[in-house]
Amino acid sequence: MAEFTLPKNSKIQPGKHYPAKDAKKPRTFRVYRWSPDDGQNPRIDTYEVDLAACGPMVLDALLKIKNEIDPTLTLRRSCREGICGSCAMNIDGTNTLACTRSIEECASGDVKIYPLPHMPVVKDLVPDLTHFYAQFASIKPWLRTQSAAPDRERPQSPEDRKKLDGLYECILCACCSTSCPSYWWNGDRYLGPAILLQAYRWIVDSRDEDTGARLDDLEDPFKLYRCHTIMNCVRTCPKGLNPAKAIAEIKKLLVERRSA
Ligand code: SF4
Ligand code: SF4
Ligand code: FES
Repeated sequence: MAEFTLPKNSKIQPGKHYPAKDAKKPRTFRVYRWSPDDGQNPRIDTYEVDLAACGPMVLDALLKIKNEIDPTLTLRRSCREGICGSCAMNIDGTNTLACTRSIEECASGDVKIYPLPHMPVVKDLVPDLTHFYAQFASIKPWLRTQSAAPDRERPQSPEDRKKLDGLYECILCACCSTSCPSYWWNGDRYLGPAILLQAYRWIVDSRDEDTGARLDDLEDPFKLYRCHTIMNCVRTCPKGLNPAKAIAEIKKLLVERRSA
């Protein structure tokens, strides 16, 4: 693989180099660094990690770097098993979860790690998801009902429950939305694939009684119709979900409603 070089006009500076001593199986990680505190341009720091003394996942390498080489490296993580969505970042050119991406899976050569693209950065690999979460809140992601609450739970048939498969698994990691060119350019008003998949999850829930209002809310040139079926979202989702299909289903429901 060719040596990684930054473009000449890049504002990202080459950073520090941390070589590994006596490594049996060295591998180089090039990691984006930026802090609001030091007034410096972003830089790429280079760390050599001994894979012979490291777990198999990219998150293992990042934690080894943080614990043993450079404690200032900042990242989010929690579950370490692809459930919380907090370790989403751009690894080797793909938005994915550091805890489920094995180092072996990364292309040969240096492993390049950046924060999720086109998001403001809080520090290093931590993106600012404030707007993303506000968009999630805007779809009112909970069961909305008008009928009297039953004594026990609201029942759902196995067939209706099945309609939530491929939707409920979404962990809101934002890999899809931050891979979507439409979201890059219109993220202020376009809800993006993650939030639209979540919106569809409540639209198709047989127990929800606010489907009409949910569809009214999405019938908007920007919130929904900025999806141009580019499909980056499907390619990148680390949970193997299909946000583009959910978006298409919402559009179909709106067409059916208009022609009813
Ligand atoms: S659809 Fe996939 S990529 Fe998008 S937020 Fe959900 S889990 Fe992450
Ligand atoms: S299919 Fe739609 S949501 Fe997915 S990446 Fe393309 S434009 Fe974005
Ligand atoms: S640490 Fe929870 S998804 Fe990676």
